[in-house]
Amino acid sequence: MNSVVKPIRREKGLRGLYELMEFFRARLEVPRTIVEIGCYRGEASVVFAELFRKVWCIDPWEPYPRYDNMPMDHLNDFTADDWAEAEREFRRHTLKYDNIEAIKGRSVVVASSWPHGQVDVVYIDALHRYENVKADILAWLPMVRPGGFMSGHDYSQKKWPGVVRAIKEVFPRGIFIDRFSDSSWAVGIS
Ligand SMILES: C[S@@+](CC[C@H](N)C(=O)[O-])C[C@H]1O[C@@H](n2cnc3c(N)ncnc32)[C@H](O)[C@@H]1O
Repeated sequence: MNSVVKPIRREKGLRGLYELMEFFRARLEVPRTIVEIGCYRGEASVVFAELFRKVWCIDPWEPYPRYDNMPMDHLNDFTADDWAEAEREFRRHTLKYDNIEAIKGRSVVVASSWPHGQVDVVYIDALHRYENVKADILAWLPMVRPGGFMSGHDYSQKKWPGVVRAIKEVFPRGIFIDRFSDSSWAVGIS
């Protein structure tokens, strides 16, 4: 059977993620906790697991809601079976990392019962619509401890203008946004 969940190819995007890990290594005395919002097959999760003591992975692994203004993304067309396969691939790929823990659920719902001010880094990479990215950042900002970072993927005006708009609205002019070669971004929280 032909699968829509493509085999994991690790090279692409890895350099930028490792740059991001070096950035965190240099700034966090002890990199304790990262929450990844949107994990798919766990490619970034295992990179995070090399630096952070605990990686929380939040993803519903379910078909996307049908919004009118969805940006182009092959994941929009995934069926329930495709997502079940993606989740299995995540579990397989992260199996040997006992510091990775998955929570199957939607970002904003999971955030509603998460303790405030205790996470070093939140990494947002879920639905790339402006409204969702903004809601994810606002829902998770209170969980980042002072001295930690709000971060995420796909800071690209050309490919993901909604992502850039949401980030710029939450972190207006004057707040520095670090950017990395895989289009990851990070903002220090004081
Ligand atoms: C671009 S992929 C994530 C890629 C992953 N961060 C990586 O680097 O390998 C987007 C993921 O967001 C998930 N997602 C969609 N809506 C979500 C939501 N409301 N909360 C959390 N994750 C969501 C999807 O199921 C999908 O797995």
